Amino acid sequence: MPDKEFIAADVNPTIENGSVSWEAPSNIALVKYWGKKENQIPANPSLSFTLKNCKTTTKLNYVKVTEAHQNSEEITFEVIFEGVKKESFKPKIASFFKRILPYCAYLKHFRFEIISENSFPHSSGIASSASGMSALALCVMSLEKSLFPEMSDDFFNKKASFLARLGSGSAGRSIKGNMVVWGEHKDVLLSSDYYGIEYPLKTNAVFKDYQDTILLVDKGIKQVSSTVGHDLMHGHPFAEARFKQANDHLSELIPAFADADLETFIKIVESEALSLHSMMMSSDPYFLLMKPNTLALIHKIWEKREQSGIPVCFTLDAGANVHMLYPSANKEEILEFVKNELVVYCENGHYICDEVGEGAKML
Ligand code: DP6
Repeated sequence: MPDKEFIAADVNPTIENGSVSWEAPSNIALVKYWGKKENQIPANPSLSFTLKNCKTTTKLNYVKVTEAHQNSEEITFEVIFEGVKKESFKPKIASFFKRILPYCAYLKHFRFEIISENSFPHSSGIASSASGMSALALCVMSLEKSLFPEMSDDFFNKKASFLARLGSGSAGRSIKGNMVVWGEHKDVLLSSDYYGIEYPLKTNAVFKDYQDTILLVDKGIKQVSSTVGHDLMHGHPFAEARFKQANDHLSELIPAFADADLETFIKIVESEALSLHSMMMSSDPYFLLMKPNTLALIHKIWEKREQSGIPVCFTLDAGANVHMLYPSANKEEILEFVKNELVVYCENGHYICDEVGEGAKML
């Protein structure tokens, strides 16, 4: 089993208590992960830009418990999110701990307090699972490193991504920058279904600070969770064709990244976004996450590209918000465009300016 390397020895820790903090970013997929097998193994490889400003900061406090209080099945923890105790966040984190326990048996010797906050508004429609789960996975790894100090940085990052992935697939892509590949792909050496790796191939400088302006069309809670959406790819009539398309798209992006071929980049990125939503629209049951303003924004972006020649394009998450992507050289003109023509399509005129970032940081 390739995951064997991630099983930590079940030591009885000498550390009595401690605290560690990490800040981890969100990411936006260019090639989408939609569909998974058992144990959070993706049905196809995905590739994302790591973001810079949308991030989660998590502090993990840990205290050693007596043997009588240990439970090898369940970890004891409290969650405080933005200053408030959050019972509603516990099931997802409990399931994360349960999934990672076989790889981190030392966790059962501690009880935890998880204190977390996001840089972006909670009700922005931006999923916080990627940044949240990666920040937590990194905190767990810092604890593991204090128990096994000889661990290499490479192993630390790999296992952090491996654990984050078990919490939420896309979180495995939120450890490193600037671009991350998760899922085995024939043209990306060392790519793995088990963890994300920094995109290892030639990348033109234009992509190092690519801009992502997130146009907040709908700040409500998602109508369908990603987990349910992924599940609907089982038995989906177009599943196999979609998984092949994602592999082909990644292959096509490789020379585009090397040569700054923005025309190809745009074609693939927009196609991926529309394919993702097509999968939702053709699943059983079907669902539609785009809103009228999502479509209005897509048309405005196309019109702008056509009229100005600026290589601006869009991508979508599993929601109605539009991520508008463009080179940093065009920042001024595009932000004027946002203020003058796009804010009317955003809920309460809200949007978030983000860009490609370097990955998570220990605080
Ligand atoms: C549409 O990572 O949220 O954003 O593994 O069930 O937690 P789980 O799903 P999640 O799915 C993300 C789906 C997506 C595309 C992507 O980020 O690749």
